[in-house]
Amino acid sequence: MSKKIVLLPGDGIGNEVIQAAKDVLTAVAEEFNHTFSYQTEEIGGSAVDNHGTPLPKQTVDACKEADAILLGAVGGPKWDSYPSHLRPEKGLLGIRKTLGLFANLRPVKGFKHLLHASPLKEDVVNGSDLLIVRELTGGIYFGTPSERQNDGQSVVDTLAYSKEEIERIVDKAFQCAQLRRKHLTSVDKANVLESSKLWREVVEEKKASYPDVAVEHLLVDAAAMKLITNPNQFDVIVTENMFGDILSDEASVLTGSLGMLPSASLREDGVGLYEPVHGSAPDIAGHGVANPLAMILSTALMLRHTFHLEHEAQLIESAVKEVLDQGYHTPDLQLANGKKIGTEAMTEKIVEFIKSESASKSIMSCYA
Ligand code: IPM
Ligand code: MG
Repeated sequence: MSKKIVLLPGDGIGNEVIQAAKDVLTAVAEEFNHTFSYQTEEIGGSAVDNHGTPLPKQTVDACKEADAILLGAVGGPKWDSYPSHLRPEKGLLGIRKTLGLFANLRPVKGFKHLLHASPLKEDVVNGSDLLIVRELTGGIYFGTPSERQNDGQSVVDTLAYSKEEIERIVDKAFQCAQLRRKHLTSVDKANVLESSKLWREVVEEKKASYPDVAVEHLLVDAAAMKLITNPNQFDVIVTENMFGDILSDEASVLTGSLGMLPSASLREDGVGLYEPVHGSAPDIAGHGVANPLAMILSTALMLRHTFHLEHEAQLIESAVKEVLDQGYHTPDLQLANGKKIGTEAMTEKIVEFIKSESASKSIMSCYA
């Protein structure tokens, strides 16, 4: 298979983790006879510095031509005081919206050697395995620009959703649940917000089309509490943009490390942007110690969701599990009797596993 991949390293550790993803994909391409071509473009703070905008036209044009996009991370203290249209995050929001990437999948599953690093009790987090399906191109993040106001004395942000926008993300979440443990929790604030009332109605309407999936509604405040007191009750969570942003960071503590969480942002035709959930970590950028595993796991999601290469995706996921089982870890992770290594050495370990013959015999998927 021959595919065009656009690489958007962005800021901070973005360059290092994107290089790791590329090395892993090169190994996969060699082992399985695929051809992946790469084009690197700028986004975020580095694009502001070099082009005066966080999302240059050239980047948008390249992404529109791509089969898939890999993004490192955007942002850093350097740009914190910039006006809102020049903030690195605007580049990320802009590319999600421009490409129509409405479905954000954030799988949260701990690796057993890391669970003790969670601030939560091990018996609470043990066995948790959930998928957050976050609406990504609507809601308060994208309220009509003319309605977004700030005159210094009063401010307005608008939360708008069309029924169609809710329907397509709810459908996606039901379909994800069908491939997993067939349990869907819809999270809203229907006791207060009109948008949530419509959200709940849509979920109720859609239920009939997915009779094999059990559905539950939870208010977002209760969901936030249950996520850390009884995470095992969740399989798939579907929610609107901002609730999903908040709950997915909260859920990351279940795994013991934010450095391990991948994400996929998809549209209906399968085109997707894949990025780690973690940020640009400017404090360690350039030191060769960034954890590349969330980015590497994001490439596995790309192989699965956009290229339908399930075997290759599972191979990468098994490699990550195996390397952690062997005790290798980057400095952000605390592993008892572990062997601390840097970004390149960690990537090399993953590549070695992919190339080793035993790999194809011991595949066990971590994320569906
Ligand atoms: C995320 C991030 C972004 C978001 C920021 C960087 C705009 O927090 O991907 O979760 O809020 O969507
Ligand atoms: Mg976030």
